[in-house]
Amino acid sequence: MAVELTAETARKCEEIIGRYPEGWKEAAILPVLHLVQKEWGYVSLEGLKYVSQLLGMPAARAAGVMSFYPMFHKAPVGRHIIQVCSTLSCALCGAEEVVDYLKEKLKIEVGETTGDGRFTLEKAECIAACEGGPAIRINDELHRYLTKEKLDKMLDGLE
Ligand code: FES
Repeated sequence: MAVELTAETARKCEEIIGRYPEGWKEAAILPVLHLVQKEWGYVSLEGLKYVSQLLGMPAARAAGVMSFYPMFHKAPVGRHIIQVCSTLSCALCGAEEVVDYLKEKLKIEVGETTGDGRFTLEKAECIAACEGGPAIRINDELHRYLTKEKLDKMLDGLE
């Protein structure tokens, strides 16, 4: 499958890559992967090859970098990605109950996407909201001190 970015995203990638001297272009991989994922929703194998060519680096190395960071998705995900922090502070504040509630409410397991493509449920390591556990991230937004009522209100407001 041939992949191609929109002109605007391609321009942004070029701008970022242009900040690095020749021979160091692959240092731009994280912001470029973010742009690609923002446009396509995930980074497919073809997308990863495209990025590696853009940066002049071996695809295997690009895959190694991408696999280190859990925020990059290799397959399609829901329109809204719910990441429940499962690290110690949040675990002590009831993160597992939040996960159980979301599994029941959305009728999916962790790592799955709802049938309507609306939500993907994931567990995450610390999301830097430790003082407000249990905490979750929905897309790029942090939410603290979660309760079932808060979750219902937030999720019901997302299309
Ligand atoms: S432990 Fe949950 S945000 Fe840090």
